[in-house]
Amino acid sequence: MFSRQQIIQPVALDINQIVSNTGKMLRRLIKENIGLDVILEPNLDLVSADPGQIEQVILNLVVNARDALPKGGKLTIQTRNVRMENDFGQAGASTLPGRFVLLEVTDTGTGMDEETQTHIFEPFFTTKAVGKGTGLGLATVYGIVKQNNGRIEVKSMVGRGSSFKVYLPAVKHAVLTRTSAKYTGSPNFSEETILVAEDAKPLRDLICEVLSGYGCTVLTACNVEEALQIGRGRKDTIDLLLTDVVMPGMDGTALANEIRSLHPETKVLYMTGHSGTFIRADMLNQDVSLIRKPFTPGELGRKIRKMLPGKLGESSRAGACPKENAAAQRESGA
Ligand SMILES: Nc1ncnc2c1ncn2[C@@H]1O[C@H](COP(=O)(O)OP(=O)(O)O)[C@@H](O)[C@H]1O
Ligand SMILES: [Mg+2]
Repeated sequence: MFSRQQIIQPVALDINQIVSNTGKMLRRLIKENIGLDVILEPNLDLVSADPGQIEQVILNLVVNARDALPKGGKLTIQTRNVRMENDFGQAGASTLPGRFVLLEVTDTGTGMDEETQTHIFEPFFTTKAVGKGTGLGLATVYGIVKQNNGRIEVKSMVGRGSSFKVYLPAVKHAVLTRTSAKYTGSPNFSEETILVAEDAKPLRDLICEVLSGYGCTVLTACNVEEALQIGRGRKDTIDLLLTDVVMPGMDGTALANEIRSLHPETKVLYMTGHSGTFIRADMLNQDVSLIRKPFTPGELGRKIRKMLPGKLGESSRAGACPKENAAAQRESGA
């Protein structure tokens, strides 16, 4: 997010809806020894924010809380309408003076000492083992909160746990309309089969968690050979191939061609983290698309839902976001 320009689309957003939509996936991310409580304020005020960014905030805070609960415990996500006397960073005419939406993530985990707390929002600050932490989670959260004229507060005690409070300015309903229809949240799939080829294990595991959480059947391959083996061995449909563009051995586009010669029905979604992309714009069409890393679970789900609308009889939705298609095309040509 720091290193690339992101297309951010603030809309009037009901944070409750995002929490609910990600809930199923969050439960899958945390172990059974962690109790998850979700407490949502009814009639929560709207905020102006990008849904993907809010998902990212929730996800980063929840993953941190999970990591702080190696022996289990309790994790709580709560939303509330709050009033504050001093209008820190009010965004302007569209916001309601003094009114904020609070999103709070609390855990009963390890907690942090004061010295640690002074550094947690710094990029690359991590107390986790090499390969476990990047130190970018809270820096990202901080950036998103600031960008949306909000504030973040942390309270923590060693051995007792931590609480992160994110305050975002409430917006007038009249200024922006609710986008529940447009923001469809995490989709549900009905056993669509997705072949995932990704050499980075943590990402591969996370994608599998997310997609099976959505109800997909996931076949995984850690390299091109494995993906080809699965393709050759499978008689049933593979609805979609989700593959890295750059992998050791053979690139993702060659893999996609091989798989499609075996399974002509298979759609292809490339993942790429490289700005100088290896995908030519003219290779992208209805059946072949691109998603840029890093993406949120919701973004991935919606993207796939758009490519595979048929099974739920939602084909009308396929063409519902011409803007996003155009953006993707533009991006891919960049
Ligand atoms: N809920 C929490 N409980 C205890 N420590 C936390 C919590 N959230 C964040 N931290 C501390 O803040 C550091 C930075 O967090 P973050 O930016 O998400 O990076 P990372 O999770 O990759 O280490 C963590 O390494 C950890 O020391
Ligand atoms: Mg983190």
